[in-house]
Amino acid sequence: MWDLFLFILICKPTALASHLKKHCYTLAQPPLARWPQADPHFQIITNLMWPTKEGAELQGGVRFTWDNLLLKDGGIVALDWAVSLTDQQAQAKRDHHPGGRFLCHRSSNPAIVVIIPNTLGRVTPHLLRLCYQTLQQGFYPVVFHRRGHGGCPLTTHYQKFGNASDLVQAVAYLRSHHPTSTLLAVSEGSGSGLLPSYLGECGSSSYLTHTYAACISPVFHGQLWFEYELPWLYHWIARMYRNRITECQTRWPMLERTVPRLSMKPDWPTYWERNEPLRDANEVAVPVLCLCSQDDPLLPPLSTVPEALFHNSPYFLLAVTEQGGHCGFMQDGHGGTTSWSHSVVLEYFRMNEGLTGLERHEG
Ligand SMILES: *[C@@H]1O[C@H](CO)[C@@H](O)[C@H](O)[C@H]1NC(C)=O
Repeated sequence: MWDLFLFILICKPTALASHLKKHCYTLAQPPLARWPQADPHFQIITNLMWPTKEGAELQGGVRFTWDNLLLKDGGIVALDWAVSLTDQQAQAKRDHHPGGRFLCHRSSNPAIVVIIPNTLGRVTPHLLRLCYQTLQQGFYPVVFHRRGHGGCPLTTHYQKFGNASDLVQAVAYLRSHHPTSTLLAVSEGSGSGLLPSYLGECGSSSYLTHTYAACISPVFHGQLWFEYELPWLYHWIARMYRNRITECQTRWPMLERTVPRLSMKPDWPTYWERNEPLRDANEVAVPVLCLCSQDDPLLPPLSTVPEALFHNSPYFLLAVTEQGGHCGFMQDGHGGTTSWSHSVVLEYFRMNEGLTGLERHEG
């Protein structure tokens, strides 16, 4: 069924789905780019591997400020706020963009978009562009950096792949400091280890209820992905990177640190039972739009996508494109190359606000 297509939307026929089809214009226009941008490897190199300034206050035309958050067990995570655009013109446009204010009828504050990076914790050009575009459209983007990531000191241990307890505390902190702002969330690649975990764990008591979440190129099955053999070049680059950042991190730092000591064999079945991103998927009570590309070389093949979840749950929607690579979705457009995924996610965040609670939850 995956032969010869440009775009497929897999979901239960709910009011939300038909609203999405009708009003999210960008969704129905899958990314189209010419060579070399169309090449998935080219997209990975330019979007994920291209050097960025780690921990810099000013990156990708965006100015950041930091909030460090002390967790209950002594760990520290960072909330990295994108506060302004360095380009004066873009900033002026932002001040007049209706985007964030669409969501403001309940409050005087723009909606906050919590951005969850991939598990390597690297600030990628892809992530920076997402911050840029989110800010430009009038939202407040905030990047959630895990323990030991994004310049955040590691005072305890790395967190496990699907352990959402730090994110739970961070979202509670955001909620208490910005009680009137709508909270939205989006994850990049393996950052999906946290987002659906969080939404499943908190269910309807999450601070993200009455809101929307999106996953760009998500890892659905942690164990499968972990065991999946990456193309050798990526495997090699991931190793180089990890050797450079610390003496002992692996591609999955949070895995290694949680493996019991030498004499004990790691208990992988139990580990994955507690860390699979979709372990509590049926508790999720927030629409989650997932964007995947068929030519993604960093994820297991599309045949492993949990299609039944998208057919049965009123909350999970899956858009599959033919082109896009991993967290690329480059498209040729007015004024250069942009990311289709970013435009879709922001349009979806805005559009959903138009739905009433009833329509949203009606199956
Ligand atoms: C998740 O992490 C927290 C904080 O480190 C820890 O207390 C908790 O036991 C972990 N949960 C699981 C299921 O491993």
